[in-house]
Amino acid sequence: MNNYSKKIQGLNLQLKKRGVEDPLQDVVKKALERPKIFKDRQVMRSDYVPGTLPHRSDHIRRLGEILSPALRFSRASNVFIYGKTGTGKTAVVKYVFNRFREVAELEGLPLYFSYINCRIAGTEYRVLAELCESIGVKVPFTGLSKAEVFNRFRNSLREKNIILVASLDEIDVLVKNYGDNLLYELTRVNESFETGGLNIVGVSNDLHFKESLDPRVLSSLSEEELVFHPYTALELVDILMERAAMAFYPGTVSEEVIRLCAALAAQEHGDARRAIDLLRVAAEIAERSGASIVEEKHVRLAQNMIERGRVFEALSTLPLHSKLVLTTLYLLARNDLNNPTSGILYETYREVCSLIGMEPLSDRRVSMLISELDMLGVLRSEVVSMGRYGRTRRITLMTPIDEIQQVLESDDLLKTLINHRPTAVIKNRSS
Ligand SMILES: Nc1ncnc2c1ncn2[C@@H]1O[C@H](COP(=O)(O)OP(=O)(O)OP(=O)(O)O)[C@@H](O)[C@H]1O
Ligand SMILES: [Mg+2]
Repeated sequence: MNNYSKKIQGLNLQLKKRGVEDPLQDVVKKALERPKIFKDRQVMRSDYVPGTLPHRSDHIRRLGEILSPALRFSRASNVFIYGKTGTGKTAVVKYVFNRFREVAELEGLPLYFSYINCRIAGTEYRVLAELCESIGVKVPFTGLSKAEVFNRFRNSLREKNIILVASLDEIDVLVKNYGDNLLYELTRVNESFETGGLNIVGVSNDLHFKESLDPRVLSSLSEEELVFHPYTALELVDILMERAAMAFYPGTVSEEVIRLCAALAAQEHGDARRAIDLLRVAAEIAERSGASIVEEKHVRLAQNMIERGRVFEALSTLPLHSKLVLTTLYLLARNDLNNPTSGILYETYREVCSLIGMEPLSDRRVSMLISELDMLGVLRSEVVSMGRYGRTRRITLMTPIDEIQQVLESDDLLKTLINHRPTAVIKNRSS
């Protein structure tokens, strides 16, 4: 028995003497007895960069070649990297940056590398501030104008006579929110420099992103391009095998389990993040249930859990009135009105709005929200004939009602509506 177990036992004795039941006794006992599956949880985290990246050697080499002039203190080409989510773009950029940074430090080169995730940075100001910080220029959290921060960045780059290779990951998010002005300015930074300067590695998983760029910005950003294709199921097996060997105790995760995770992740597109998440969640479920190995049933449960998580996230980030339309459909469905006409939906939506003191949108706007939700696959809207009454739209929820309930319960305003019985239901019953 280890020290911790002894302590717990001692504590239980004390509680028993006082006639108090320890509600955690079983939980603690089980946790201490439970067979272990994870050897190193860190390895399965999404931001972990493994020491080797199977099936990405070509991309690593190519990015390395494009950036290698920087090691000789000449400016390299800007690179634009794109490909679907989970195809290893961020991992490859971080891998190459880490390696080159080591060389630059070892050789004492005036060369800096900065990895910035534009979605996490959030604003143009933060992106500029992070660029400044990466070359040792301090910028207050707020208070300066963007132009001022930009000037400080450009001037320091020139004065210090250094090269900065900056990766702007998820660059599409920045451009979607602020347009491509900053990118334009950044691609022009070098124009007044003799030596030194800025190299940009832009990364995006939005395959249409390029279309939204001004042609001048596009041509300077994508002097070189690297495309990342989805992994095949077999490639995912290799990736998972390497991860599993580091993350789990021998014999706890079989090759069949890994093959299943790879196959499921490859179904939509070969997304390594999804494959790794699936294996991690399956192992967590197995460990929690006291199993000593991960089995197929754990992977299937993990798949369900992740799917539900995705639906939850998609629904809980919808704009308020789209959520109100969903709430309306939920309330009708819960009271057995499963595919209401658009007329009943509008009427009940207005009732729902008045309950929480919101001004309802016009029927036309609500109709547009319905079309958007239809495109997302949350509901289906169909035109049906009503015989001599003409034609109308009927709207059917395509998302399980308990998943919508979870979203409503997590929202302080919407949860007050859950038990409401819409007037349309009462009318329907009495007619
Ligand atoms: N070839 C590989 N070998 C090992 N692990 C990999 C490989 N490719 C991706 N991964 C892992 O899969 C996960 C997702 O990869 P990464 O974050 O690089 O995807 P991404 O292409 O940047 O996706 P997104 O567009 O969503 O940002 C990470 O945990 C990463 O470590
Ligand atoms: Mg990424």
